[in-house]
This record gives sequence, C-alpha cells and structure tokens, in this order.
Amino acid sequence: MKFFVDTAVTEEIRELADYGLLDGVTTNPSLVAKAGRDFKEVVAEICKLINGPVSAEVAATHYEGMVAEGERLAEISDTVVIKLPVTLDGLKACRHFVDRGIRTNLTLCFSANQALLVAKAGATYVSPFIGRLDDLNLDGMELIRDIRTMYDNYGFETQILAASIRSANHVREAALAGADVATIPTSVIKGLVRHPLTDSGLETFISDWAATGQSIL
Ligand code: E4P
Repeated sequence: MKFFVDTAVTEEIRELADYGLLDGVTTNPSLVAKAGRDFKEVVAEICKLINGPVSAEVAATHYEGMVAEGERLAEISDTVVIKLPVTLDGLKACRHFVDRGIRTNLTLCFSANQALLVAKAGATYVSPFIGRLDDLNLDGMELIRDIRTMYDNYGFETQILAASIRSANHVREAALAGADVATIPTSVIKGLVRHPLTDSGLETFISDWAATGQSIL
C-alpha cells in the first residue's frame, strides 16, 4: 500500500520525505486554509519536495470552472493530480482531464455507486472518506471492501485511495481491505512506528550493551 500524507504543511512533508516514508501528498481546501498560505505557491513547493503525485483540489463547482482551475493547477507540475468532487460536473471534468492525460483524484466519495461512476469516468484515484462515515456510525471500512470487490470484478484500474484516516487501526484495516493507497495525517503516520514493547525492549538492550563496556566503532 502506498502512503500519501494528508497535509498542506511543507515542513511536515519535508520531514516525512526524509524518512523515506512518502509516496505522495494530498491537500484539500480546508488543509490549505489551515496552512494559511497561498495555494498555488504551496502546491509548487510540495512538488519540489517530493517526486510522487500531489493532489490539488479545484474550488469551482461547475464544469467550466473546474476545467479552468484544473488546467491552471496542472501547469504547476506534471506530478499534480487534479482533485475533483464526485458530482456530475466533477465526473465530466474528470473525463476532460483523462482525455488530456492528466491524472485525477475524485474526492468526497461516500458510496460504492459513486466509486463505480468514478472508475467509469477513468479517474486515476477514488477517495472514499472512512473517518467521516465512521463519525456517522456507519462503516467506512466496509466501503473500501465494497469498492475493492467491485473494481476487481470488472478490472477497473482506478486506484482506491483510502482517505479521512484518523487512526493507526484505519491504516491497518485499509491495508487488509486492499486499498491501493492511504492518505494519512502526519501524526498518524508517525504513530504507526510506536509500540511499548519496542520502547522497553530498546531500553533493556541499551543498558545491557552499556554493561559490556564495548564499542562497535
Ligand atoms: C482526502 O483527500 C482528504 O483531504 C482527507 O482525507 C479528509 O480527511 P478528514 O475527514 O479528516 O477531513
């Protein structure tokens, strides 16, 4: 499973990229607002930090506006993926970009039928939002499993990008459910490495090693 980080904060992206943990980045208007910086400037900076796909979302809700904004964003770098909402206009704009060889990420997907339309539109990625479904006492992971089955039944190549991930368990379950990619907040990515037995085991190794009085170098 590929790891994307879900942030518009370049310092976080730089740090994770240095660990070799990043395959790509997703942003959305809320994350850009939180970062408090110029959108196109941030996207350009992110594209320089990382070689993988960088999802940049259009703000327009109508086809013409989506196309105009998406084309402007695509000029920033070949690695920009145009993020569009799963609406009829978004699907139509998706087809426009697919025909021009520009990658797309269809976002705010909350049902398997929406994901079916996204695959038929030829999108590169579909982003089902796990956490927001869980927030409503629905089963976000069930949606990932349904989309996986559906896409495999018909050989659709659209990649399942598990989004709205809130916990380490979401990451584990998305991987088990066969998501191609997970876009994960920085804190959750860093949390994946933590285990109390790793910490206590390391403490013991450190003190036992010190007791030997030896040096490897
Ligand atoms: C995905 O691309 C979205 O940016 C993101 O995962 C939404 O997550 P949230 O539901 O925690 O806002």
